[in-house]
Amino acid sequence: PRRTRIVHLLEAKQRGERWAMLTAYDRASAAIFEEAGIPVLLVGDSAANNALGYDTTLPVTTDELLPLVRAVVRGAPNTLIVADLPFGSYEVSPQQALETAVRFMKEGQAHAVKLEGGAEMAPVIEAITAAGIPVMAHIGFTPQSEHALGGYRVQGRGEEKARELLRSAHAVQDAGAFAVVLEMVPAPIAAQVTAELTIPTVGIGAGVGCDAQVLVWYDFAGLNDRKMPRFVKQYADLHGTLLAAAQEYKAEVEAGTFPGPEHSFDS
Ligand code: KIV
Ligand code: NA
Repeated sequence: PRRTRIVHLLEAKQRGERWAMLTAYDRASAAIFEEAGIPVLLVGDSAANNALGYDTTLPVTTDELLPLVRAVVRGAPNTLIVADLPFGSYEVSPQQALETAVRFMKEGQAHAVKLEGGAEMAPVIEAITAAGIPVMAHIGFTPQSEHALGGYRVQGRGEEKARELLRSAHAVQDAGAFAVVLEMVPAPIAAQVTAELTIPTVGIGAGVGCDAQVLVWYDFAGLNDRKMPRFVKQYADLHGTLLAAAQEYKAEVEAGTFPGPEHSFDS
């Protein structure tokens, strides 16, 4: 199979074809998602709260994310791999942002990077894209700013906020972004952004009117045993499946029914 490239995503938008994106943090999940035909995987900084056990995405570092990016790239060789730039690794200056993006491309072997922010990030997006590194933007609710935004809430509600969101979307496109994530945005606003932009929009909590959708894989697979936000659909119950398997294994070991003769070697 041919590797998904950014030009294919732009062609899909022109043809009106939707595509699905998932996060991945390790080799096994990445390989399964590639086998399923998911064309784009994001090594999100959501690895912080999912794979690494932090409360928010804020503490995770470039050094912690790089090995995850490498694992996903190795697990899904025909998939477009996007590496999320963690909080604090790109906001200081366009130079800092470019240096971090280069690390994800060189050491992580990613194919693109993602960063949060709108018009204020335009110089950063310009600096990274000028070096030949594709940038996915992320506007609406941006989890790295949760303390400034007052927690997880819908962004772009009301006429003025909607205009601001549209301005942000155009700003990141004009700065050279190849796609933009819209997180927790009213569906009609996301549909308007999608219609106005030439680059694909990737929705999460942004309705069906986007060019693509993304979900955090621990959420979509039901691996997290906690209340999910409204925008998550659980397509599996991996928590239940793994819990039952671990309980059965524990019971069989304690009862002496595992290993059986078929799992054992003769002398
Ligand atoms: O880190 C992440 O998983 C993300 C997606 C939800 C867009 O940024
Ligand atoms: Na993220």
